[in-house]
Amino acid sequence: MYHLECIGCHKRYEPEDIVYTCQRCGDLLDIKYNYEDVDHQLKSGEWKKRPLSVWRYKELLPILEESKKISLNEGGTRLHRCDRLAKNLGLETLYIKTEGDNPTASFKDRGMTVGVTKAVEYNVKAVVCASTGNTSASLSAYAAKAGIRCLVVIPAKKIAYGKLSQAMVYGAKLIQVRGSFDDALKVVLELSLDTNRFYLLNSINPYRIEGQKTVAYEILEQLGGKVPHKVVMPVGNAGNITATWKGFNEFKKLGFTDSLPKMIGIQAEGAAPVANAISSGKEVIEPVPKPETLATAIRIGSPVNWKRALQAIRESGGTAEMVTDREIVDAQKLLARYEGLFVEPASATSVAGLKKLIEAGQIAKDDNVTCIATGHGLKDPDVPVQFCEKPSEVEPTLKAVEKIVGNQQ
Ligand code: F0G
Repeated sequence: MYHLECIGCHKRYEPEDIVYTCQRCGDLLDIKYNYEDVDHQLKSGEWKKRPLSVWRYKELLPILEESKKISLNEGGTRLHRCDRLAKNLGLETLYIKTEGDNPTASFKDRGMTVGVTKAVEYNVKAVVCASTGNTSASLSAYAAKAGIRCLVVIPAKKIAYGKLSQAMVYGAKLIQVRGSFDDALKVVLELSLDTNRFYLLNSINPYRIEGQKTVAYEILEQLGGKVPHKVVMPVGNAGNITATWKGFNEFKKLGFTDSLPKMIGIQAEGAAPVANAISSGKEVIEPVPKPETLATAIRIGSPVNWKRALQAIRESGGTAEMVTDREIVDAQKLLARYEGLFVEPASATSVAGLKKLIEAGQIAKDDNVTCIATGHGLKDPDVPVQFCEKPSEVEPTLKAVEKIVGNQQ
């Protein structure tokens, strides 16, 4: 049904091989399907009767035993037409896909339902990940549903409270390392070399990408087959942009659409190795040793999927941009105040980047744009509490309240 293939030396692996990266050259693995078979299976149209969700597209997922599926009803997230915000930005057509609608409130659930189902197929006893927060929240939930042990390794500082509380309540074992996400990832990569002890579910694991690619299918279906000119999304470890690009390509390969969007990756200024490589035309990224941004989800200096992200951006004719923390906070408020959508800072980078690219003339007024908002705003409530106007505190009298309200009119 499928096999794995190294993106560097093309060595082939079979579904029963428990590998994360190529054993020969160390490069990343991609999952390959026989699209003629997939096409044949999709012909009956039965898939169209399933609800919009990750598993609607099960013929395009690398799962061998459906009975082992671990699902919390992920996917089927809303695609909002955002006319007020579009007008403010000087754009005609803007959609925002709110991935915070997922069960643990971020896009990670799309990857985890497939990744943890695979872990169950492999009969592993424990799963592990490094995380800036959302991956740990999602893995903890899916491991709980599967009844397998879960270890998460996260940076000691700058983990958003919403995410930390999720991993804690789902019952994962949490370890905080005195270092960055990149340091945490290094540790779990070593720990999971023995797959009998820990199965690794970071986005280096090719099965995660497979679940995450379904966001592209959903966007295309929700737009009635119309392909956006530009898709704008945040980039951290760079797995999601890789996955989304794969999804768009597969729908084209299967004949459901006839064109592809340009992929635009947005990073925070203090953690922008991918955006730097794109703007300087480099073939490889230069890791950022001390990444810094208030968008803690994407506070990553050495993204594992950098190669595929550069490929996706360049192949699609897209670009990458970086935004400051100030721009991120402003964009978060803008989206909330024009559209009633509350997304976390990392997700607001797509709106911040979009604004910047429109101003720079790189996105045209008549471009049809979809931004992916990757996580819910309640994940990290500290940011708006810090950056929005504080509530006024008064005595509980009409007079005191009128004094404030009156001043505001
Ligand atoms: N947006 C949010 C809300 C995220 O949590 C992440 C990554 C990204 C964007 C970037 O996606 O890594 O695929 O490029 N969060 C990871 C985590 C790293 O551990 O939760 P990416």
